[in-house]
Amino acid sequence: DKTQGLKDYYKDFFPIGVAVNARTLNGKEAHLLLHEFNSITPENAMKMEVIHPQRNVYNWALADSIVAFAQKNRLRVRGHTLLWHEQVPDWFFLDNQGKAVTKDTLLKRLKDHITTVVGRYKGKVYAWDVLNEAIDDSPQRFLRLSKWLDIADEEIFAKAFVYAHEADPDALLFYNDYNSERPEKRERIYRLLKKLVDAGIPIHGVGLQGHWSIFEPSTADLEQAIERYASLGLQLHFTELDISVYPWEKERRTKRADEIDTLTTVLEQRQIDQYGRIFSIFRKYRQYITNVTFWNLSDRYSWLDRYPVYGRKNYPLLFDRELERKKAYYKVVDFKN
Ligand code: G3I
Repeated sequence: DKTQGLKDYYKDFFPIGVAVNARTLNGKEAHLLLHEFNSITPENAMKMEVIHPQRNVYNWALADSIVAFAQKNRLRVRGHTLLWHEQVPDWFFLDNQGKAVTKDTLLKRLKDHITTVVGRYKGKVYAWDVLNEAIDDSPQRFLRLSKWLDIADEEIFAKAFVYAHEADPDALLFYNDYNSERPEKRERIYRLLKKLVDAGIPIHGVGLQGHWSIFEPSTADLEQAIERYASLGLQLHFTELDISVYPWEKERRTKRADEIDTLTTVLEQRQIDQYGRIFSIFRKYRQYITNVTFWNLSDRYSWLDRYPVYGRKNYPLLFDRELERKKAYYKVVDFKN
């Protein structure tokens, strides 16, 4: 049924979002976006290095145009992201002599940043990924090492939520991370969230990025993660969904950039099954899940074409390179599964 988009099929469940960049706001891509989605997340435009490249320089152009597009078309906006170890310019950490700043100075700079950015979009960005990927990849470590933690300590994470809440008390504030349904990492994320919740910090939800593949997550891992996070009284957003047709681990060793350049029938069928299974779990847990956002619009462009193997085509989304619905799309909107 071409009159219905994903957002219409899912209107009784949750908004359906998509990550956007400058190319997504025009022409056929914008047309597809508006037909299928009712929430957007700027893929890069609100990250520190883009929006605040120098101490007294803010770069509002792209972020403003994304928010204006959303306002005009009545889309929700998820803001992404206020505190992250990547895509952050060095000036945050250095004084005029090029020496490391003190913790107090760093907190003040972060506060200025968050107050300015969240304040500018007050009432227009309904949810913020306040803190992104703070948990380490290794089970041996709790928090990821970063320049933020070199200078400050864990308190800076709690402060980020407090500053954001002061700037827009109505915005929903999220912690966002990947591999967040893998049991071991899930427990470390849970530990961080519980500390924040117990300390009365204004945090409203957890973002599970959902950079998955045809091999994961398992039903058990996904369901247990949803239940575990929900037990904290937090709402869940799936913030960066895509399903790679390559395995995530080991693939640096096993795949060359030219190894697969078409979506084979076998891989496509696995992806269809995976999308179907995951969305039936999302529907089952609708009481906790309040947004599901895809990370990019169609297989014409995905960040996975450059990562982890540069130049190897991936096919992770529901629309193909011609912007047509893939078979996986029909599986996702078929609630009989
Ligand atoms: O801005 C430069 C541009 O001037 C230059 O011409 C171009 C050449 O490649 O690079 C541009 O910067 C790139 C930027 O995307 C904008 O396209 C960076 O090199 C590139 O590293 C950056 O990648 C982004 C990545 O985050 C950064 O780590 C991806 O687009 C974006 O999809 C990705 O998104 C992250 C989420 O924010 C957090 N979760 C994981 C997710 C995937 O990595």
